Amino acid sequence: MNIRDVRSEFPILESKIFLNHAAVSPLPLRAAEAMKKFISDKVKARSTQNVDLEPWRNKILNSKSLFAKLIGAREEEIAYIPNTTFGLNMVAQMLPHKHDSNVVTNTLEYLSNVITWLKLGEKGVKVRFVKDDKGRVSLDMLREMVDDKTIAVAIGQVGWYNGFKHDLKAISEMIHEKGGFLVVDAIQSVGNMKMDVRGDGIDFLSCGTYKWLLGPQGAGFLFIREDLIEEFNPPIVGEKSLDPDIVEKNIYEMFDLYELRYSRGISKYEVVHMDDAAYVGAEESMRLILDFGIENVERKIKEIDDYLIEGLLEMGCELQTPIDELERHAIINFRAKNIDRIMNELTKNGIIVSQRMSGIRVSPHFYNTKDEIDKLLEILKAAKS
Ligand SMILES: Cc1ncc(COP(=O)(O)O)c(C=O)c1O
Repeated sequence: MNIRDVRSEFPILESKIFLNHAAVSPLPLRAAEAMKKFISDKVKARSTQNVDLEPWRNKILNSKSLFAKLIGAREEEIAYIPNTTFGLNMVAQMLPHKHDSNVVTNTLEYLSNVITWLKLGEKGVKVRFVKDDKGRVSLDMLREMVDDKTIAVAIGQVGWYNGFKHDLKAISEMIHEKGGFLVVDAIQSVGNMKMDVRGDGIDFLSCGTYKWLLGPQGAGFLFIREDLIEEFNPPIVGEKSLDPDIVEKNIYEMFDLYELRYSRGISKYEVVHMDDAAYVGAEESMRLILDFGIENVERKIKEIDDYLIEGLLEMGCELQTPIDELERHAIINFRAKNIDRIMNELTKNGIIVSQRMSGIRVSPHFYNTKDEIDKLLEILKAAKS
């Protein structure tokens, strides 16, 4: 599969320069087609009962194994969740805490990975913020905050507005030493880089699919480290949280539900009825990424990022993204005077980026080209002068 084949999956690229994958990505044609076909089959099945939905069920199940592959986990460690924020909430509410517990996070987080922890404040848990220093959070700054009352370090692996990349392995070692957990908001990293939950020591990871995974909204995944699946219980429950024998008895035989006996395995965390069409689409999108190869995706993104940074620095732009390539990935943000005028010019010229945190955020995926970056730089140059 070459870049031209990939680009043909996204009709938007014929008329726009789309550099906004940190927001909501375009959906590949193959995902949209599969979703339409699935919905049509589902409607038929509900009206005539003579359509076999089994292949679709297998596809939906396969979405778990593809996601597991992308993060280096086993599919038995992956739960369906509707979105990233939902997964973070689940984890926050199920971690054991005492009145003097704390959670450590930082000022580079998107609000999802802050509100979920602030909510724990209602139970007395303190949230400690490491203040970023010009868009960077150093390990020393984190180390100063983490102590033996820290139940979790909550980190967005790649910073949502400036692409700052945390050293998760070092952070997991730091928090594990104190007996706490590493909780990762991974919606800005899964799909744009090769990941290794095991090597990085991640305990919980939550991720939606509509950004770098090129999936639809409504499909997300929660990774829970294998040995923690039985140790914890979900803070809210649904039918799949229950021992299947109890469900069966209570549906087919008689009421016999006087105590809560959990199902075994990851399904006890799957507490909402999932949007199955979204997972059909997500499966197609993740296959597109895996067909191209996640290592190739990561390499291509790095090339484009380096090229863009070079161009921005040449123009004298002030970056809000660290320049050191070891400290950044996928997302580049620069400050601009007359930001509204520049955004207008970019939009007028069909270039899609976002205005974020007093700067302009550019988030190219692997199929963007240097020609597209040249065009962006050209418009910026003209708009700045
Ligand atoms: C880092 C980060 N976390 C979470 C979210 C919200 O994700 P979701 O809609 O899947 O809850 C966003 C959305 O922009 C984000 O950038």
